[in-house]
Amino acid sequence: MTVSTTNGRVLIVGATGFIGQFVAEASLDAGRPTYVLVRPSSANHSKTHVAKALQDRGAILLNGPANDKELMVKLLKEHHIEIVISAVGGEKISDQLALVEAISSVGTVKRFLPSEFGHDVDRAEPVEPGLRMYKEKREVRRLVETLDIPYTYICCNSIASWPYYDNRHPSEVIPPLDQFQIYGDGSVKAYFVAGTDIGKFTMKTVDDIRTVNKSVHFRPPCNLYNMNELAALWERKIRRTLPRVTITENDLLSVAAENRLPQSIVASFTHDIFIKGCQVNFSIHGPNEAEVSSLYPNEPFRTLDECFDDFLLKMKDENTKHSNEIPARKPVVEALAITATCA
Ligand SMILES: NC(=O)c1ccc[n+]([C@@H]2O[C@H](COP(=O)([O-])OP(=O)(O)OC[C@H]3O[C@@H](n4cnc5c(N)ncnc54)[C@H](OP(=O)(O)O)[C@@H]3O)[C@@H](O)[C@H]2O)c1
Repeated sequence: MTVSTTNGRVLIVGATGFIGQFVAEASLDAGRPTYVLVRPSSANHSKTHVAKALQDRGAILLNGPANDKELMVKLLKEHHIEIVISAVGGEKISDQLALVEAISSVGTVKRFLPSEFGHDVDRAEPVEPGLRMYKEKREVRRLVETLDIPYTYICCNSIASWPYYDNRHPSEVIPPLDQFQIYGDGSVKAYFVAGTDIGKFTMKTVDDIRTVNKSVHFRPPCNLYNMNELAALWERKIRRTLPRVTITENDLLSVAAENRLPQSIVASFTHDIFIKGCQVNFSIHGPNEAEVSSLYPNEPFRTLDECFDDFLLKMKDENTKHSNEIPARKPVVEALAITATCA
């Protein structure tokens, strides 16, 4: 079956960010003509480094903020962009309104993927302050639909990692080595997807005619875990058991109510996922939705087991690095053995 319509030019907004980087790399991996919008104001060294690395791989850098409508009209026209993917951060969701208007006024963009990359924001109803972000994402969706722009909403669920309730990018952190904090009774399941797979499958949808005007849900059956199973998986990797403490529903709600950003937003999503079950409490069968492993049954997902192997390697690397750098420091493996006796 032919499902692909074009191999058109892709513009990625937010490619220097956490999710955007995975998407930009997947676009380059797929051999697509990849344009990356970089804000000139971004003086952050690590982001400049990411942009340079993407450029070295063949990405074409464009300068500008996505919320400058006139500039975006000019860039989209000049570079004949056919696909626009936005991965602006949670606090900048409304910046996309001007981008959406620019896409509409140009009229030649064949697909727009707004910055979603999480839950189905029309279904999920987290407590504040997470709800505020969802309301902004909903506003972008409604504008896209009103202006009749062909879209795909990526609902990729959780990134493969230990889901720390106070860390915005938990996949950058090794799972616990001292104790597990288990949300509620630890029995509510969620889907965990490797960042590279978020990028890879996002890029598969962008010119697939089956995903036009659809929400695409990422539900790889191999990566459906609850907190207790996640803890057991990590214990098998580190070959020892850790104590468990319960983080109750009220604990999560209290952190959310503190309104400390971004921690409180993460706590509100953690509550929605692991207490309310927002990723698993509905089935996907509406006319405007699709499930990614059904769309691409022959394309493998990285398993959470493999992702946890990566964390183990990272832990060992860091251990080696530290023991080389600071000879007096107690090696992590030894420290682990000591903790293990307390478990
Ligand atoms: N499923 C998950 O587990 C998960 C995890 C994290 C995020 N998310 C979602 O993924 C999306 C991206 O979040 P993130 O954490 O990856 O964001 P991030 O790391 O904060 O990166 C945001 C990117 O957007 C760029 N940007 C922001 N405003 C812009 C503008 N007006 N014009 C051009 N570029 C702009 C930033 O550029 P500068 O370099 O100039 O700042 C940066 O490159 C969000 O929708 C978020 O909710 C999902």
